[in-house]
Order: sequence, then structure tokens, then C-alpha cells
Amino acid sequence: MNEGCRYSYVIQRYNHNQKLSVIKYLISKKIVSNHMEIILHITDLHFGYEGKEKPGAKAQRINCLDSLLNEISELDSQWKPTIICITGDLVWCGAANDFDEAELWLDKLLQKCDLDYSKVILCPGNHEVDQSKAKKFSRPSTALEADECLAYPIADHYLEPFAEYIKFCKKTGVSTLELGKTKPSLVGTCTINGIRFVVLNSAWFSKDKEDKDKLWLGLPHLELMQSNQQISVLQGSQNPPITVALMHHPLDWLNSEEQNTFSGRKDTKDYLAKRCHILLTGHTHGGV
Ligand SMILES: [Fe+2]
Repeated sequence: MNEGCRYSYVIQRYNHNQKLSVIKYLISKKIVSNHMEIILHITDLHFGYEGKEKPGAKAQRINCLDSLLNEISELDSQWKPTIICITGDLVWCGAANDFDEAELWLDKLLQKCDLDYSKVILCPGNHEVDQSKAKKFSRPSTALEADECLAYPIADHYLEPFAEYIKFCKKTGVSTLELGKTKPSLVGTCTINGIRFVVLNSAWFSKDKEDKDKLWLGLPHLELMQSNQQISVLQGSQNPPITVALMHHPLDWLNSEEQNTFSGRKDTKDYLAKRCHILLTGHTHGGV
């Protein structure tokens, strides 16, 4: 952890039926004297989970999220979030109407924080995937295969399951990501208020309940960022920017070849760890 950062866990975790988990921590960084950036991290909101069959769950959601808005309203002004990170599963099944519902609530959240969508950083999760499209291609079984699949530019069929997510990002204007010379919505970097964010997609090959240990983060994407000076090794650098990485799945959901060095291929987990101060994730949540 960089000495310039400190954490304050100021809002408790909300949960209902283990399907909604709003995990929040505020991270402050003293960029200059008397100035702090406050990052609100939320995850796994799962808008659309209730459907029409679970009206009770919808009431729980509304009450839960209203409580969060109320807590933000009551924060001292110096603790109002200045940046919002959402680590995936914003919606339940990657459908357009789920994103519409999410947008209505995010509008309220941003209003409470006096922010706009340019201060929102979002990464995709397994629930942003249209599984009917994802099931048409298989998961890579080796690192070599994964690196070929995720070579940039990414083949269209890997983007199609995220079509509604990409539309949502473009429509709302969430923080624009850069990957090399391109501006994709699923992976890339951006800098907000002097903090560098690295957005990664751990859900490229997410398709069902068997995802654990079978996911690939995309070493080619990290190497492309490195070659374009969009990320850099922190140790030994003079005044590197505070770097926060976002990915939906915890690292231990990745294929073992993504977490260890095999046959001379770099360890993606280690590659990322050397280039970020903080890693924000979601996906795993339970009762509190
Ligand atoms: Fe998830």
C-alpha cells in the first residue's frame, strides 16, 4: 500500500438474500495538502434480479439502496465520494431493461454526490454477459489459447455477449477507457482527479456456474497497456500515480495458469500486482 493512501470503512455492508451486495469502502488519498479524493466502491447490485416474480425482493432492494443514498446524504461534506467505482454485476442478465433500471438509481446516486457519469468507473461482471451468446464459444484451456483468443483487437464474437453493457457505457458516458490507441468500453485505463484506474474484464469466458478456476483476465491487454505507458511497474518509479485496478472476479477465480508462471509465460496476477496499488473486486458475497 502506498503511504499516501488510507482507508476508512465508513459504511456497513448491505445485503439481501445474498443476491444483493453493496460493498463500500471509501479510500482517501492526500494528493496535496488539505485535498482528498474519496472513492466509493460498490458492487454486485444486480438490477433486474427480482423480475416480475419476486416483488418482495424488489422492495428490499429499494429500501436497501435508499438507505445507502441516505447515508451518503448524511456524510460530512469532506467525505462525499468524488469518484465511484463499480466492480461489475450492475445488472442481473445483461438485458437492456436491467440497465435502464440501474441508470435510474445511478442518476440518484450521482445527484447525491454532486457528480456526473464521467466520475464513474465500471468493469463488467458475469451478470453483464448475455449467456445465450457466450455459450456459443468455448473457454480456452491453456494460456497459449487464451492469449490467442484475447489478442487485440478483440474478435467481435467475444464482444457480442456484452453488447448491452457497451451500449450502456456509451449512452451514460461513464469514464472513457483507453487501451492502446483505442477506446473500448470493456477494458482499458483512465485517469480521474490524478488517480489512474485500470479496468479489466475477468468475465470474457464467463458463461455458467462452472466459471471458478476457468477464467482468463487477458495478459495481452495488460501488455498492450504497458507498451503504451498506460500502466507501469510501481516499484522503483519516481512518484507513480496512485493506481487502482478494477475486476469483477477475485483473483482466485482465474485459471491457475493466469495465477502462476508456466513455460516462461508471465504470471498475469503478478504482472497486475506490480502495477497497481489497490485491487477492487466483487462477485463473492454472502450474508452479514
Ligand atoms: Fe458475479
